[in-house]
Amino acid sequence: MDSTSTTIITKKQSNHGRRLVLLPLPFQGHINPMLQLANILHSKAFSITILHTLFNSPNPTYYPHFTFLPIPGTANEHLSVFGAENVVSLLMYLNEDCMEQIKECLVRLMLEDEGVVCLITDAQWFATQKVADELKLPRIVHRTSSIASFHSYVAFPSFLETGYFQGFKNDDETKSRALVPGLESLKIKDFSKIFPSNPEASCKVLERMTQGTRLARAVIWNTFKELEELELETLNHGFPNPHFLIGPFHKYFVASSSSLFVQDQTSISWLDKHPPNSVLYVSFGSIAGVEESEFLEMAWGLANSKQPFLWVVRPGSIKGMKEHELFSDGALGKIIGERGYIVKWAPQQEVLAHPATCAFWTHNGWNSTLESICEGVPMICSPSFGDQLTTARYVGDVWKIGVVLENGFERGEIDCAIKRLMLEKEGLEMRNKVMNLKEKVNFCLKKGGSSYSSLEDLVGYILSF
Ligand code: UDX
Repeated sequence: MDSTSTTIITKKQSNHGRRLVLLPLPFQGHINPMLQLANILHSKAFSITILHTLFNSPNPTYYPHFTFLPIPGTANEHLSVFGAENVVSLLMYLNEDCMEQIKECLVRLMLEDEGVVCLITDAQWFATQKVADELKLPRIVHRTSSIASFHSYVAFPSFLETGYFQGFKNDDETKSRALVPGLESLKIKDFSKIFPSNPEASCKVLERMTQGTRLARAVIWNTFKELEELELETLNHGFPNPHFLIGPFHKYFVASSSSLFVQDQTSISWLDKHPPNSVLYVSFGSIAGVEESEFLEMAWGLANSKQPFLWVVRPGSIKGMKEHELFSDGALGKIIGERGYIVKWAPQQEVLAHPATCAFWTHNGWNSTLESICEGVPMICSPSFGDQLTTARYVGDVWKIGVVLENGFERGEIDCAIKRLMLEKEGLEMRNKVMNLKEKVNFCLKKGGSSYSSLEDLVGYILSF
């Protein structure tokens, strides 16, 4: 969504004169945490400028307390050619072709305001490290996903190089279940699906992202120590820069206004009609898509489970199928019957916090996973690509707060997983575990808690520049 209003730069009050420039990646799952981080830092008396692409621009009217600075040449017509499936090419374009404009924006800003102290970018804006160095502006990286998945990204290129995946086939049961050396929480079949198309190009992006993260002054994580203490310890070996674990970001403020899509509020009135712990919420985030045949398996699995469900079917998320075709012959309605309610986009945080919500069938985007943990909702995991594979494995096998669908979309397995989670003792045990994590979240954000203290440290660190 382009916003012409973002071309207007409005100067806002500069609290104690220190301004931070935050640069999000233009995707929903990256914009949300970056703007949440901006709110957190603003609450610590920093002035905030959001430097952003015009493509998928955040809506400045929801953030009157920030200044918005659009990067020229990044409107829809420049970037939409890449499409949602070509994220790697888009990342290369952003990092190779937008640096001059970004540098000019920063120079102009620094001339206008002497208080600019730091650039905070998404880790995937790796080329900005050079720009920041040239301007002698400290750069801090914000990594929007888990530390565990970062480890898999760091390791992926060397596994590819040594031919580890060569000859691997998903139907080779023994090898597919084998654990990845050095990353024993992962199975080789997870690892091989992280970048299913064009792994070589993906590796280039990963290597540059990793290098850019290593060179940054510090890294801010949207996670919390109690969840990823071991992963943090391992990280410290290869990345000696300071790490600030201050998440979960969305718990600091009630705000979902960075949504790029309209959230259908009837989701909540529909949930209101259901008893506590009775509904399955289904959503695969803003990018992941499924084939038509997989979508039908999902519908049958949901119907056969006989549990009520709220299903987000994002327009364009069924490959090769237009929205109107979905309902045209009434076939879907016949399968799902009265138990299901379909919306295009939901107010997800409210849905997960609703008493009627019992479980979440998710693609395990990091935001969705954290949001589920924070509301004590166990998960059914259908990871699609990238960090989602690692996160799903952690949810299922390490934290034991969900069930991973091991065979893709197969109606029998789906039906069985829903029943395991919503009706059986096993589901109750997972709910208890995730409730336990929810309590830890509440504690870590309070005075003296790990995220609270880490945020204090981060503020002190930035003030030391
Ligand atoms: C992407 C990647 O896929 C993910 O793996 C990575 O960790 C971040 O970037 P996305 O796929 O969109 O993000 O998933 P996710 O990280 O879960 O973010 C989706 C966001 O959209 C969440 O904050 C969620 O609350 C919101 N959302 C989702 C809605 O508000 N309504 C919906 O109907 C669905």
